[in-house]
Amino acid sequence: MTDKNAVVEKFKDRQALIGIVGLGYVGLPLMLRYNAIGFNVLGIDIDRDKVEKLNRGESYIEHIPGSSIGKARKTGFEATVDFRRASECDALILCVPTPLNKYREPDMSFVINTTDALKPYLRAGQVVSLESTTYPGTTEEELLPRVQEGGLIVGENIYLVYSPEREDPGNPNFETRTIPKVIGGHTPKCLEVGIALYEQAIDQVIPVSSTKAAEMTKLLENIHRAVNIGLVNEMKIVADRMGIDIFEVVDAAATKPFGFTPYYPGPGLGGHCIPIDPFYLTWKAREYGVNTRFIELSGEVNQAMPEYVLSKLVDGLNNAGKALKGSRVLVLGIAYKKNVDDMRESPSVEIMELIQAKGGVVAYSDPHVPVFPRMREHHFDLSSEPLTADNVASFDAVVLATDHDKFDYALIEAQAKLIIDSRGKYRAPMAHIIKA
Ligand SMILES: NC(=O)c1ccc[n+]([C@@H]2O[C@H](COP(=O)([O-])OP(=O)(O)OC[C@H]3O[C@@H](n4cnc5c(N)ncnc54)[C@H](O)[C@@H]3O)[C@@H](O)[C@H]2O)c1
Repeated sequence: MTDKNAVVEKFKDRQALIGIVGLGYVGLPLMLRYNAIGFNVLGIDIDRDKVEKLNRGESYIEHIPGSSIGKARKTGFEATVDFRRASECDALILCVPTPLNKYREPDMSFVINTTDALKPYLRAGQVVSLESTTYPGTTEEELLPRVQEGGLIVGENIYLVYSPEREDPGNPNFETRTIPKVIGGHTPKCLEVGIALYEQAIDQVIPVSSTKAAEMTKLLENIHRAVNIGLVNEMKIVADRMGIDIFEVVDAAATKPFGFTPYYPGPGLGGHCIPIDPFYLTWKAREYGVNTRFIELSGEVNQAMPEYVLSKLVDGLNNAGKALKGSRVLVLGIAYKKNVDDMRESPSVEIMELIQAKGGVVAYSDPHVPVFPRMREHHFDLSSEPLTADNVASFDAVVLATDHDKFDYALIEAQAKLIIDSRGKYRAPMAHIIKA
């Protein structure tokens, strides 16, 4: 069954088996969505522990409930490490990581290894969709030749699309179904099959003219965020020198009903997307002899934020007649954003390292991260401090790095000797609170 119309029908009839390759923050919600509308879903991942956990009906991501995985397991979801089973799938949706290497260049090894592992099991009638964030040209340059290596012809008997993921973990206002999905096909037939795949699961599918345009769309979205956060972080420093509260200013500006979008300053960029994705374009643009100056500049401003927070901490302790060296400092919130447990690229961790490097004694409290996890480049042998009145009062300073809803802000305000607030949580001026 390789005819395009027959493939489209199989998705419309919900008879297709959906293969999701990479069962992480992106892959799992997508799996749950296809499962919820009656598709059988095969999840493929190289991580045996994750696969076993998921097959036992357990979740390993805080905001994805185990009960949802358990329910999916009973209704047509299965996970496997066996790539041979890719041949059973009608769609193969790739949701694998795209980090930067230590030279801040794209690390395409996950995408390439995944495609190479799938290659022997590709067959006519399948659609392959890449969802990982990446530079324009990836689908054409890396996936297309590999998909065609065994003699299949993209657009004729196998279909290739790029459709970026727009997941916002922890945001209760949006779910997979309600976030419009951009999609580009390698050929018009690819696009048609790709639309048939996604329009079952997503309310609004936005076709664009090519895989490159779809790849660039995702980068524009994330670069737009990175640059605007860089701008407001710079404005924060200027406002602070002038004795103006930047949060008050952003809120006031946000009342303009057109032409302004509020972005809030913070301790720096975190997560797997905003600090990383812009540099995918920077790298690719060099091939075309173009410099991406806004990206570099906002990267510079944003990367300097943990040092800025540290300087405010040093000032605050100094005012109290204390040195950072030997002071006990509690960092509040080590996940990179509020109400999630994801610590990838978290600026809180950098702040902790800076405090430690200056001889401060650092501890943390985060209701979403009970024990400091093993990370590739950072390690602290710590677990989350309880936020009791006595405990908060025992520290020389607390640094509010991530403003989880679960924190008791009134208790912190009442008990902490010194608060360094990088999130604008405390608006009224108080002697023991320093905005950072
Ligand atoms: N997390 C987000 O909020 C988000 C949002 C939009 C886009 N993205 C993009 O989506 C992609 C995936 O991100 P994520 O956050 O889901 O990553 P993740 O690390 O949570 O999940 C990736 C999964 O892929 C698996 N994997 C790695 N190599 C593999 C291979 N060769 N074959 C099969 N599985 C493999 C890993 O074991 C892991 O389970 C990235 O490109 C990211 O930039 C992420």
